[in-house]
Amino acid sequence: MSFDTIIRGGTIATASDTFSCDVGISGGKITALGADLGTAAEIVDASGLLVLPGGIDSHVHIAQPSGPGIVMADDFASATRAAAFGGNTMVLPFAMQQKGESLREVVKQYHAKADGQCYIDVSFHLIIADATDAVLGQELPALVHDGYTSFKVFMTYEGLALSDMEMLKVMTVARETGALVMVHAENYDAIRFLTDRLEQAGKTEPKYHAASRPIPVEREATHRAISLAELIDVPIMIVHVSNREAMEEIARARRRGLKIYGETCPQYLMLTEKDLEGLNMEGAKYVCSPPPRDKESQAACWEGLQQGIFSLFSSDHCPFKYDDPQGKLLPKGKTSFRWVPNGIPGVETRLPILFSEGVSKGRITLNEFVALTSTNHAKTYGLYPKKGTIAVGTDADIAIWDPKRKETISQTLMHGGSDYTPYEGIAVTGWPVSTMLRGKFVVRDGKLTGKLGGGDYVAREKSELAKPRA
Ligand code: URP
Ligand code: ZN
Ligand code: ZN
Repeated sequence: MSFDTIIRGGTIATASDTFSCDVGISGGKITALGADLGTAAEIVDASGLLVLPGGIDSHVHIAQPSGPGIVMADDFASATRAAAFGGNTMVLPFAMQQKGESLREVVKQYHAKADGQCYIDVSFHLIIADATDAVLGQELPALVHDGYTSFKVFMTYEGLALSDMEMLKVMTVARETGALVMVHAENYDAIRFLTDRLEQAGKTEPKYHAASRPIPVEREATHRAISLAELIDVPIMIVHVSNREAMEEIARARRRGLKIYGETCPQYLMLTEKDLEGLNMEGAKYVCSPPPRDKESQAACWEGLQQGIFSLFSSDHCPFKYDDPQGKLLPKGKTSFRWVPNGIPGVETRLPILFSEGVSKGRITLNEFVALTSTNHAKTYGLYPKKGTIAVGTDADIAIWDPKRKETISQTLMHGGSDYTPYEGIAVTGWPVSTMLRGKFVVRDGKLTGKLGGGDYVAREKSELAKPRA
């Protein structure tokens, strides 16, 4: 038998197994796993390297409108290029509705931004900001049918927060259509109340962003989202969980048999609210929601990953430039943390951070790493088994890792549109050296080899995990 490519001599890891064998690839698919596979147009030597499923980052924001005078640092080209350098073969950004907009029109707009502009594969979640009868009754069911099988709802943010009534209605549509609801759980009124009080006291620097949304704000909303989901009997994913108390809400719900899933992110393992204390506006670099907490919260998030309370480790990549009046140094942001653009870059550093802090330091196994960064994302969002594993018949989406390579994370190594990384100076062991999308190298030995437009839009199936208990 002859293949397009054989990856030879590497150690393969999936979410369940680690084994040594060669990978035969033809027509963009994995077509054989074994020894002595025969001939190929190209043999890739992976001796001493790990051959892993390409990372899937199921929580990224790309080219989203973010408020007057604010521009996101990444378009689809730069975000997917950075993602590929970070060992990813797929990202799931959001198509975000704003009040008064047709969801179908929004989806068209995001396709216009993304189609032909990606280095790796993409698929869209929807953000529901205007839960009108037309959106809930007609647009959403039709879009789920067309492969947009997950949507995010916000319990906070001006213009985005849904009332409990609206949340219940969206969850009902999810139950009826088989879609999965992702929830941003923070209490909007509590944040507004605390923000007003902080501003009245003259506490306006970026560090007060953390004080304006403390842990009870997140815990309460997490509890409420779970309770609403229980009423409807629909599974939900609580995204970007930052601390033990919110995590325990999820764990408790699961012990009661509810299908409540959790996601955490690198910022909750690596940063704390102290990072927001930087002089002048330096703290703005770390403004994201929920905010980074403290060392105890970091330890809790590690426990959540180790115990399977969190099934997903995503970046929540939401990049702005720092030294830019359209980014973190927005003039209005200097008057109050309230106006500092929320979000930090992270799509390129997610995998090296978890590999190094998790696998290299012995906190999680290599198989858990694969599950948390690829397989579970594919299973959660209707992409499995086409994506998210290494098996005969799957897309040949592969990241080749040097598990011993030492690097220090630095903006000079980054390939995205932002001008800083919040993880500057963190030393890591383990690095993705090459990334292959459907059998073709996008990044090879640290060099971009993929072409713009090489990444496809992928319509998704409904997720098994979105099925109600009954
Ligand atoms: O601060 C954050 N996380 N910005 C991105 C939007 C979101 O809430 O996920
Ligand atoms: Zn969010
Ligand atoms: Zn987000």
